[in-house]
Amino acid sequence: MDMRMIREKLAEAGQAHLLQFWGELSEAEQTELYLQLQSMDFQELSSFFQNAMKVSGHIKEEKIDEKMEPVPREALGSVTRDRDMLKEWEEEGLLHISQNKVAVLLLAGGQGTRLGVSYPKGIYDVGLPSHKTLFQIQAERILKLERLAEERHKVKSTIPWYIMASGRTMESSKEFFAQRNYFGLKKENVVFFQQGMLPAMDFNGKLILEEKGKLSMAPDGNGGLYRALGAHKIVDNMESRGIKYIHVYCVDNILVKVADPTFIGFCVKKGADCGAKVVEKTNPIEPVGVICKVDGKYQVVEYSEISLATAEKRSSDGRLMFSGGNIANHFFTLSFLKDVVQIHEPQLQHHVAQKKIQHVDSQGQLIKPDKPNGIKMEKFVFDIFQFAKTFVVYEALREDEFSPLKNADSQDGKDNPTTARHALMSLHHRWVLTAGGHFVDENGTKIPAIPSSRNGPSGTVTPDLNQNLKDVTDLPIKCEISPLVSYAGEGLEKMVSGQVFHSPLVIDETGIHQLVKNGL
Ligand code: UTP
Repeated sequence: MDMRMIREKLAEAGQAHLLQFWGELSEAEQTELYLQLQSMDFQELSSFFQNAMKVSGHIKEEKIDEKMEPVPREALGSVTRDRDMLKEWEEEGLLHISQNKVAVLLLAGGQGTRLGVSYPKGIYDVGLPSHKTLFQIQAERILKLERLAEERHKVKSTIPWYIMASGRTMESSKEFFAQRNYFGLKKENVVFFQQGMLPAMDFNGKLILEEKGKLSMAPDGNGGLYRALGAHKIVDNMESRGIKYIHVYCVDNILVKVADPTFIGFCVKKGADCGAKVVEKTNPIEPVGVICKVDGKYQVVEYSEISLATAEKRSSDGRLMFSGGNIANHFFTLSFLKDVVQIHEPQLQHHVAQKKIQHVDSQGQLIKPDKPNGIKMEKFVFDIFQFAKTFVVYEALREDEFSPLKNADSQDGKDNPTTARHALMSLHHRWVLTAGGHFVDENGTKIPAIPSSRNGPSGTVTPDLNQNLKDVTDLPIKCEISPLVSYAGEGLEKMVSGQVFHSPLVIDETGIHQLVKNGL
């Protein structure tokens, strides 16, 4: 396509402003802009924009509340309410892992704007005693699970790890893995693939120039997964390896039980083609999306879409009726995923996110807006629940399985490096206690399992979520157990039962380490 054709294409699409600074660009900048524009399908972009604006929040006339139905008990599994089933589900999951039928798929293409670092979130060090990154923790959990399946079934097991990155996170993520020798995994079992990007637009659908010769682009959301799976033939790759079940999760959850055999076993036993792990929403005003049925089909309903009265509804057992907080942690059968990629993907509409988008104005001045001036379009990974034939929900404990890294540290902040670090150390501390170990302070006095700061005045349980978060950040015990030693708290008795420890405690493959205080 020559420049004349590009100009025509842009004029036709109402995007001629993109060449406004063409004459001022260097040859290299012109080439770069030319390549960006040449590869763009403006007709498709315009229809994405029209549809996304149609389905976006502002234009929604209908209230969703009346149509919402809770997840029926028969489609629900729960770590607290189905304790007697957990062993059986775990066995089932481990069996499929040992037969090399399980893969994990990591969503790691996000921009991490709230965290505010220039590198991928998976490389982030939240300040654990070991300084392990999120990628390393996840890799080691995979390795450990392969070993557990192998011990159980006496066959070599492999869990392939598919990692979706974006233009921004791909190269540095790959390099990080290569430099660290894939954390002990086999290189051929770690498969990177790239999701698509979409241009940012103003509220009228005009594309935005980030620089005089560069469009503002962003990844197309974690639901860009389905298009990317097709484009890079990942489904074929899974099929050729004999994969039947896939666990999909987000990079930023430091507690994620990658390829959780209990969750997988539960979904398989239920004959589900699609499943979602949730954590219980206990506070009606907590701003999380909940999983429920709408018009007989499963979906995530965002907290902003429902009234307080609906959010506060309770079932006969006293729990919130809509309590399944979505944590983007899913199970898919390969055949379901194949149908999504081959049949349903084009039906998925983009969601609109209003953003402050840095741009050059018509005078060529760089503008950093202080309020949203445009939109980014994204698909979401959960948009495909509607296509499931048998959908199930698995309720896990938040303190065991969910602590996302979203924000930079700040006083009293939420979902930041401090809360992530403390959530992991708090979990590992509890593993040690459960396995029969305990901690003493510098005077040799036993530290109570539940620190006194966890209770409010006169021993009353603190009522609000923020207080709980504050308690986590106040945790005195520093305890980290390598995933290579224990996947989920198992196998620790022989190491810690009857033992007394000082904080900080680190247990890894080389043994038990009592690190020198303040030496972390
Ligand atoms: P978030 O929606 O929290 O976005 O992603 P983010 O990019 O991590 O952070 P912000 O909003 O810019 O601050 C949830 C999960 O989905 C992945 C992220 O990597 C994270 O694991 N994701 C998000 C993608 O894989 N692709 C995307 O386009 C967006």
